Amino acid sequence: MITPFEFNNDDTLILLDQRRLPWEEKYVACRTAEGVARAIREMVVRGAPAIGIAAALGLYLGVKDYQGEEEGFFRLLEEKKKLLSTTRPTAVNLFWALNRMERVALDSPLPVKKIKERLRVEALKIWEEDVEANKRIGLTGASLFSRACRVLTHCNAGALATGGYGTALGVIRALHERGMVEMVLVDETRPLLQGSRLTAWELCQEGIPHILITDNMAGHFMARGMVDAVIVGADRIASNGDVANKIGTFSLAVLAHRHRIPFYVAAPLSTLDLDLSSGEEIPIEERCEDEVTTLAGKRLCPKETQAFNPAFDVTPGELVTAIVTEKGVAQSPYPTSLKNLVEKRS
Ligand code: MRU
Repeated sequence: MITPFEFNNDDTLILLDQRRLPWEEKYVACRTAEGVARAIREMVVRGAPAIGIAAALGLYLGVKDYQGEEEGFFRLLEEKKKLLSTTRPTAVNLFWALNRMERVALDSPLPVKKIKERLRVEALKIWEEDVEANKRIGLTGASLFSRACRVLTHCNAGALATGGYGTALGVIRALHERGMVEMVLVDETRPLLQGSRLTAWELCQEGIPHILITDNMAGHFMARGMVDAVIVGADRIASNGDVANKIGTFSLAVLAHRHRIPFYVAAPLSTLDLDLSSGEEIPIEERCEDEVTTLAGKRLCPKETQAFNPAFDVTPGELVTAIVTEKGVAQSPYPTSLKNLVEKRS
């Protein structure tokens, strides 16, 4: 199974360097919270669930060598949590995982040594649960399809973006296991090309039929009847079903609506932020303009030209046909359907 990281018995987090795929498979070893924070910020590891898992492991790495009294331990935990939570602002999984780790520490009336052990176990549990959730999302998502299909996906919501298996690509994997993928249309996903570099790489590894398109081709292929469904992942979902995902997702949803093509979002419950009433409250990461003005180190525009570079956009819930989670499928009206899913016993 493709996985974006390994965690060794000697407490080293080994990250597959996603900036260098598909050209080379290189690894970055992290032994400290600072190293993990850098890797998240620089996108060695990326994708909402994957950065949550990496941050949880990073928080453990940040406190594991502490020797001293409880008070100092909790100060250190707070400091490392703050460091990790300032890496990327949009994917809520990062904050969800860090809060879950902190709760475990606070709820353990134990000696510091034992709390550290519990934090290690918890981080690995977050990882394991994510893979399980993705497999369930895959099965549930695949059951929405009744025949072989051509699906379009954007960015990378695959094994590389999660603990393994993937969310949107998890559904595509499950469909492929049933022989139901005719073709995956892969949006290249400018500016960082997560589609052409990462999704196409994953699909090649699995032998899933796919074809690469540039982001501005989607409408053309929809109009020609060559797309049966769009399926994407998410970085944060507000209680009204508004979905923040990789920049370009919103335009795809508008196009899908125009062509009456179902637009599915696949995401674990850890991506829900039900405290937010709408997507307007989701912080959108602004990245360096060089990612837009240059490609492979070459400038694409006059040196005086400036660029915008929001990393995500928000798709209104009204354009989302369904949200597929590990506990089932939510549909409009989202304020009730999402809440019901969260409260549902598994
Ligand atoms: O900037 P990235 O590469 O971290 O953005 C990733 C995405 O937008 C994914 O679609 C999203 O995190 C879902 S991953 C299962």
